[in-house]
Formats: sequence, structure tokens, C-alpha cells
Amino acid sequence: MREAITVRNLSYRYPDGSQALEDVNMEVYEGERIAVVGPNGAGKTTFMLHLNGTLRGSEGQIEIFGKNLEKMKREEIVKEVGMVFQDPDDQLFMPTIFDDIAFGPINLGLKEDEVRERVEKAISSLGLSGYEDKSPHHLSFGEKKKASLAAVMAMEPRILVLDEPTANLDPRSRAELIGILNELNEREGITMVIVTHDVNAIPELADRIYALNRTIIETGTPREIFFNGALLKQNKLDVPDVFKVFEVLRCFGVNCEKIPLSLDEAVSGLTKMIETEGGHIHLHIHEHTHDEIEKWRSKYEHH
Ligand SMILES: Nc1ncnc2c1ncn2[C@@H]1O[C@H](COP(=O)(O)OP(=O)(O)OP(=O)(O)O)[C@@H](O)[C@H]1O
Ligand SMILES: [Mg+2]
Repeated sequence: MREAITVRNLSYRYPDGSQALEDVNMEVYEGERIAVVGPNGAGKTTFMLHLNGTLRGSEGQIEIFGKNLEKMKREEIVKEVGMVFQDPDDQLFMPTIFDDIAFGPINLGLKEDEVRERVEKAISSLGLSGYEDKSPHHLSFGEKKKASLAAVMAMEPRILVLDEPTANLDPRSRAELIGILNELNEREGITMVIVTHDVNAIPELADRIYALNRTIIETGTPREIFFNGALLKQNKLDVPDVFKVFEVLRCFGVNCEKIPLSLDEAVSGLTKMIETEGGHIHLHIHEHTHDEIEKWRSKYEHH
């Protein structure tokens, strides 16, 4: 498989001396969906800002589809890597939402018809119809976040880098956004790198996780990472709620082979369990239940 993003020994120190990144290494394959997780101040945003050359001048090397980012022109980078910033106010700067979304395609030198087509497509897929003539300043946070994504989508990049895309979205908008991102990934093979604290979304949004805390601590599938208790605790990481509920059920003697990571997995897991156990799920308190619950609690005691 082709590497979409290759990061080698990346280090970055802010001008005030804060060492935000140290020897970060990462490979993202074409079409992969990566979640980057880590506590506040771990360097996630700093890292993301390197992927489109917003931050430079650090040690190390970044390649985008095999090309050294340092040697790519600005126009070339924006065609490959679309970045949705953590703060939408950093992204939107034109008088209207339409202008903001059209800005990138116009700068790519596209004809007026195609610009209009791309803007309309992005607006409708993010449910922003009717907002075209509004000023970004007058939008709510969630609306701004969607407008930022629309502006990036209109560029049709092969890689999408998103810093906390689901933060502050209402449940319906959050679910819609997850759907849109997955559709872009499935239909168009878009590679995605997503920074998120929204662990409940990770099983739906990511094939692989990188745990970052100034450097890369670990990488693995969501299942591998969520099972790594020591890693979670040391890096103040959380697991999906449904995972915790099933860990508790296990303490009460539920015999589930595979702890579910999503509600869909929970439904199919429970169904299978009930079928194999003659129509019931048997919960009980045994000798070690109390100790097991205490052990489980201490695993998440930072909450
Ligand atoms: N412009 C800056 N100047 C100096 N230090 C900075 C600057 N921006 C960030 N930092 C520091 O670099 C470190 C990493 O910050 P960064 O914003 O990358 O963290 P993060 O993982 O994105 O956190 P969060 O989850 O809160 O968004 C922090 O210690 C932060 O204080
Ligand atoms: Mg951040």
C-alpha cells in the first residue's frame, strides 16, 4: 500500500522554548483513517500544523505521497492536504460563507462554473444551504465548524487533516459529520488524520490510532489501544462508554468474548451471547466481583 503521509523524526520547539514535539514518527497509508489522541497540550495541534506546512523549520522530515513537503509549493500542498483547524475562526476570513468556500477553488484557478459547482456541493453536503450570504462572524460555533469543513472539501484534497471535528457539535450534526467523513473515505478513498478527544466516535471513524504525548507513545487498532490499560492511564486517555459498560458486565460474570467498541457491536455481541446461552444473559455476584470492580475503577481513576 502507498504511504500518503510519512513523518520521520519530527521535532518542534516554539520560539519561547516549549518543546512541543520530539522525534515523532508516523506512517499513514492511502485510504487509511487515523485518529490522533493525547491529553491537552500533548502537541496534537502542533503536529497537525506541520502536515500542511503551516509550521516549519523544525527537525525531521515529512513526505506527502512520497514528496518532501519542504520542496512542495504552497499550491501543490493545498491540493493534497486539506486542513480543518481546531478553531474555525482561524479558517474563515471572507465576508460571506460562499466567499470562504469559493476562496480555495478560485485560487486553484478553476473556472467560475466549476467553482460554483464545488461550493454548492460542499454547502449541500454539510447542510449549510441558506447560509451562503451570511457572514462567518454571525454563525454559531458548530455552523462555523461545518463551514470550515465545507471550505476544505471544496478543494477536493486527497488527504484530510481534521483537528477536533466533532467538538461542540450537537448529536445530530456530529452523526452527520461522521457519516460525511466516512463517505468521503469510502467513495473517494480520501485519507484522513483526525485529532479527537471524542473516544466514542473513534471506532466509527478510525482504522488505527496514534497516541501522541510530545512523541508517539503507541500505535494500534482502536481495540489494541483501548485494551492497553497502562497506556490509557499514563496518557489520560479514555475508552468508549460502551466498552466500560461491558467491562463492568464482565465483572458480574457476563461471558463476552469480545468487548464491543460501538453500540452496533454491543447489539450483535449481546444477540450472539443470548443465542448461545439458551435465551438469557446471566449476571451474578461472585467471590471476586467486588475486587474486580475496584480494579476496574482504578484503571479509570483519573476521571
Ligand atoms: N504559539 C505557541 N507558543 C508557545 N507554546 C505553544 C504555542 N502553541 C502551543 N504551545 C505549547 O505547545 C504544547 C502543545 O500544544 P498543542 O496546542 O499542540 O496541544 P494539543 O495536544 O493540541 O492540546 P489540546 O488537546 O488542548 O488541543 C503546549 O504545551 C502548548 O502550551
Ligand atoms: Mg489542539
